[in-house]
Parts: sequence; structure tokens; C-alpha cells
Amino acid sequence: MSQSVLQVSALHRKFGTSHVLRGVDLALQAQQCLAVIGPNGAGKSTLFNVISGALAPSAGDVLLYGRSIAGHSPHAIARAGLARSFQISQLFARLSVLDHLRCACLRELGPQAAGWRGLWGSLLHRRDVQERVDGLMGALGLQESAQRLAGELSYAQQRMLELGMVLASGPAVILLDEPTAGMSRSETLAFTTKLRELTRGCALMLVEHDMGVVFELADRVAVLHEGQVIACAAPDQVRTDASVRRAYLGAHRGNGLC
Ligand SMILES: Nc1ncnc2c1ncn2[C@@H]1O[C@H](COP(=O)(O)OP(=O)(O)OP(=O)(O)O)[C@@H](O)[C@H]1O
Ligand SMILES: [Mg+2]
Repeated sequence: MSQSVLQVSALHRKFGTSHVLRGVDLALQAQQCLAVIGPNGAGKSTLFNVISGALAPSAGDVLLYGRSIAGHSPHAIARAGLARSFQISQLFARLSVLDHLRCACLRELGPQAAGWRGLWGSLLHRRDVQERVDGLMGALGLQESAQRLAGELSYAQQRMLELGMVLASGPAVILLDEPTAGMSRSETLAFTTKLRELTRGCALMLVEHDMGVVFELADRVAVLHEGQVIACAAPDQVRTDASVRRAYLGAHRGNGLC
């Protein structure tokens, strides 16, 4: 079998006496979408925080293209080609759409971008940055909002901008934490369509409570329950797995699984 682009091995994370991740093993293949589902508090965001470097693991390893990134800084991991979004929106309310996307292009420009103009000057004047930002705004339907401040956008547009920031860095591996949470049905459908189009060719790990989105996008579904993966299989297999249904009963009745 081909090497996984991202591999999580025997991963543990404790907060004091609280043992939140308890030996997580997961593998993400090139161009695959792996959805991570599980009840509230299962450890999904903690898993993303450890993979992306926001938290160090208590034990275990994370390999990106076969090289350990466990405990590396978030910016080193981003530079290695992994980008993520957050469960809670992380935009700067008083920064424009255009400037958010310009900043997100920094990963590919690298430290040498800070030439004689300085970093911001380089971002403002580089044609390749402008072309990439224009392309993204067009693809995301944000071109009319280029000069608007992020704080003035609708919630769905803010989520779209966050997707744009993830894509602007040209990542090979993308982690999205509940990207459609809080959206209406029609916004979710529009977002899911864009997500599928724009992440083609990338490896995608997606935390999502909306089972419509999960079954639309995922090639495989991993179920995290109390810090452990209790199932990882094709969506249809997971849907009928007895241990998964037990884990969800009560917590998520009516979400499409139970
Ligand atoms: N920095 C932290 N310090 C202490 N406890 C934490 C920290 N981060 C997460 N936890 C705890 O770890 C557990 C798992 O939290 P996490 O946010 O990973 O769950 P989740 O699966 O993402 O849940 P949700 O579906 O509600 O987003 C929770 O009990 C939470 O309180
Ligand atoms: Mg979470």
C-alpha cells in the first residue's frame, strides 16, 4: 500500500489527570477525505490541535509524509504543507477579506518575501499573490466583498473566507474542524459543493457533526469515542456498526446515524 500522507500513531494527550486522547491510530491517504466524527467531548478538536502543533502530544507520534512532526511548532507544520481551520472562527474582525487572503499566502512566499519592501510591502506588490487572491475570491464567491471587513460578513461568508485562507497557503493536507456548523441547510449545501471542488487533489481530514456532509464527502469515516477510535471504515459500514450506534445513542439521536 502507498505511504500515508498523514499518520497518527498511538497518540495520547492528557490535561492534568484528564486523559483525552487515549492511543489514537489513524492514517490519511493522498487525495482522500477522512471524516472524524464522535460525540461532544470525544477529543476531535484536541486531535486536530495535536496534529497541527497547537498542542504537544503526551505520547505517540504524528508523521507527515513519513517524517515526525509531533511537538513541532504550528508554523513549521504549516510550512511543511498542512493547513487547518478552527471550530470557532479565527478571523480578524477589522481586517478586510483581501488582506486576510494576502496574509494567508505567506507560507509559499517564505521568509525571503521580506525583501527591501518588508513583508507587507511584498504582499501588496507581488503579482503572483494578487493573482492567487483574485482566483480564490472568485472561486469562493467573495469578489464583491474584497474590501469588506471580516466582521461585516455573514457567518457563512466568514466560514468561506476561512476556507480561502486554508487554501491560500497551497497545502497538501487540510484539516477542517466543523466547517459547516451553524450554517443553514442551503448554506451547508453550497459550502459542501465548494469544498469538494476546491480541495480536489488534497488530502482532507474533516471533523463534522452534519452526517449529510460526512456522507457526501468522506471516503472513510473514523469514529472517536472517549479519546479512542472505535471504528474506521467506509461510510456505509460505519453507519451500520453496532458500537458506533451505541456511542451515538442519546448524544446525537436524529443526526443521520441513529
Ligand atoms: N486545553 C484544554 N485543557 C483542559 N481540557 C481540555 C483542553 N482542551 C480540551 N479539553 C477537554 O478535552 C475533552 C475533549 O475536548 P475536545 O474539544 O477535543 O472535544 P470535541 O470532540 O472536539 O468536542 P465537540 O464536538 O464538542 O467540539 C473535553 O472534556 C475538554 O474539556
Ligand atoms: Mg471540537
